[in-house]
Amino acid sequence: MTHFLDIHTTDQSDLRSIMDKAHAMKSARAGRPKGTPDDDQPLAGHMVALIFEKPSTRTRVSFDVGVRQMGGQTMVLSGADMQLGHGETIADTARVLSRYVDLIMIRTFEEATLLEMAEHATVPVINGLTNRTHPCQIMADVMTFEEHRGPIKGKRVVWSGDGNNVFASFAHAAKQFEFDLVFTGPEPLDPERALDGLYTTVRDPHAAVQGADLVVTDTWVSMHDPQSARERRHNQLRGYQVNADLMAQAKPDSLFMHCLPAHRDDEATSEVMDGPHSVIFDEAENRLHAQKAIMRWCLGL
Ligand code: CP
Ligand code: NVA
Repeated sequence: MTHFLDIHTTDQSDLRSIMDKAHAMKSARAGRPKGTPDDDQPLAGHMVALIFEKPSTRTRVSFDVGVRQMGGQTMVLSGADMQLGHGETIADTARVLSRYVDLIMIRTFEEATLLEMAEHATVPVINGLTNRTHPCQIMADVMTFEEHRGPIKGKRVVWSGDGNNVFASFAHAAKQFEFDLVFTGPEPLDPERALDGLYTTVRDPHAAVQGADLVVTDTWVSMHDPQSARERRHNQLRGYQVNADLMAQAKPDSLFMHCLPAHRDDEATSEVMDGPHSVIFDEAENRLHAQKAIMRWCLGL
């Protein structure tokens, strides 16, 4: 079974072929209306379940549109509306869904839920974000970098802010796509120890972004973080805001990325988000193209 669970658990050569496919599929349909089917219709006759246990705009819409462009059909399911939310096990849910659909994408809380789904499903499972990682996002981010600047190998990528799930997938990608990743953020919000060795830490944000080819940040309070931690996190992270002053320390042609949704003027200023370095909306668009290539790879199509 070819699941797409994480960047570090997917072969480097497979990641490269997914990426090349994503670029090719994007250019093949350039300028067409979004609802126009792709010429080859690789998912014709295929049914895809999209399960959300957390909110989503980009993941939900990009997967849904992507499947339709490729000729497949989708059903979007909310975890709370399924028996999953009323005590049916993940394993049984996986076994049952596998009888109806050809592919499952799930956004959930615990990584264990994703892994259990993958273990018991007899169709491929895609990770649409867990508390620990967000691999589809980082495939789109690498694609976006390549589109604007060419190969990411050897480039300096600086993450400023919370050492969260999106950072974790960047750390996995740093090894697989061979770029240098720097983390700058407050010690209490350091990335998890399992990522040690995949990045370096520079505590001072201005020193960290020197020579950066790409500066990235994300929300200071993730969906799985308790709201009670909001004020503390804001106080810890305020010094790591990506603003024009910080971007001025990066290379003149550096890019700025944010997976979105953003809290404007918290983790990044509107000046940066809407400024000349920002590629945030290309990044959002590329979720569509990257995930189409991921789905094809999962299904061997
Ligand atoms: N970046 C991202 O995954 O966005 P959504 O939460 O809107 O899906
Ligand atoms: N770190 C964020 C990413 C949202 C796409 C979260 O998990 O809420």
